[in-house]
Amino acid sequence: MTAENHELFTHIGKVLYSEEQIRQRVQELGRELSKDYQGKPLVLVSILKGGIVFLADLLRSITIPHVFDVIGASSYRGGTISTGKISITKDLDLDIRGKHVVLVEDILDTGKTLNLVLELINLHEPASLEICCLLDKDHPRELVIPIKYTGFRIPDEFVVGYGLDYQEKYRNLPCIGVLNEEHIHA
Ligand code: PRP
Repeated sequence: MTAENHELFTHIGKVLYSEEQIRQRVQELGRELSKDYQGKPLVLVSILKGGIVFLADLLRSITIPHVFDVIGASSYRGGTISTGKISITKDLDLDIRGKHVVLVEDILDTGKTLNLVLELINLHEPASLEICCLLDKDHPRELVIPIKYTGFRIPDEFVVGYGLDYQEKYRNLPCIGVLNEEHIHA
């Protein structure tokens, strides 16, 4: 099943990354993490909901033992621009104290979500905390978010697919692309 077979693919004006390009980059990130965390107690932590598609592929490309958990956070509330108001809807289930945590996120936009989630995770006192973010958007931001592992740097455009939504749709598209204007409702 390719992206072109998806009903919602016709809403995409420009594909930024194909399924194959994403697969290859995720494999590379998995190899890097497997090497860097060899012999260490690794916990991947992802952010609901967008991050879980990336997490699902990334964890299967990591060849060392590890566990994962999810945190609930949401900001966009259905639009294309961040409201800036982030709510935490779910905390960690696992005890990560003294463990090496990699925060797995789909996209860095204003940085407000990651900033808040980093604070929350640090309260749990991990041994280390790094970020693995699939998309780093070229968006002017005041917050400095240190990303150790980046998938792709993308232009400042509203993108969907591979977990990223517009009004909850498009998360199941295997590629990442920019929506046609006509499908964005003010
Ligand atoms: C999106 C995305 C990131 C966040 C990035 O989540 O998945 O978590 O926005 O934006 P920021 O850097 O400006 O904070 P959203 O709040 O839309 O929730 P979702 O993952 O459930 O779609």
